[in-house]
Amino acid sequence: MTTAPDDARQGFLAAALYTTREHRAIESMIACADLIVKRAHEDWHAAADDLVHALRFFREFVDGAHLQNEEAVLFPFLARTLDVDASVFGAQALSEHEESRISMRTLDAAINAVDAGADEVRRDLLEHFAEYLSRLEEHLHAEDAYLYRVLSDALSPDQQAALQATLSQARVAGLGPERSEAFLRSARFLCERYDVAFPE
Ligand SMILES: [Fe+2]
Ligand SMILES: [Fe+2]
Repeated sequence: MTTAPDDARQGFLAAALYTTREHRAIESMIACADLIVKRAHEDWHAAADDLVHALRFFREFVDGAHLQNEEAVLFPFLARTLDVDASVFGAQALSEHEESRISMRTLDAAINAVDAGADEVRRDLLEHFAEYLSRLEEHLHAEDAYLYRVLSDALSPDQQAALQATLSQARVAGLGPERSEAFLRSARFLCERYDVAFPE
C-alpha cells in the first residue's frame, strides 16, 4: 500500500484549513473591490455606496478580525508548535499586517476628506485602495503557500481541525456571531452585484 492517499488527504486538509472560507471570501471581495474601484473611476456617484461598503468590510472584517485572529491565535500557535522558520514567517506576516492597517487609516482619512467635500482626493483614494487590495492579495497567497506546506507537514488532521475551530470561534467571539455572519452576507451580496463568485 502506498502512502499517496494519506498524503493527498493530509494536503487536502491543510488546504481546506487555510484556503477555504475566510481567505477565499476575502479574495472574492478583493476581486469585487477592484471592479468597484474601476467603476468609481468612471462614475464616482454610481459606485460611492459600494465603495463605502467594501472599505468597511476590509476595515472591520479583514483588518479588525481576520488579521487580529491570526495574530492572537494562529501565529502564537505556529511559534509554539513549529520550528524557528515559523517565527520568521510570523515576523514578515506581522509587518504586512501593520502595513495593511496603516494603509487602511490613510484610506479612512481620504474617505472622510471626500465626505467633507474634498473631491480632488477621490483619485488618490481609488489608487491607494487598488494598491491596498493588491498587497493584501499577495499577503493571502504567501500565507496560503507557506501554511499549506507547513501545516501539511507538521499537523495531524485532528490538530488542523482543532486549529480551524479555534480560529472560527475567535472570529465569532471578536465580531459577535451576528456581525460575523452579517459581514459575510453583505460581502456575498456585493460580490453578486458585480458578478464575482463568492465561496459557499
Ligand atoms: Fe495575515
Ligand atoms: Fe490570512
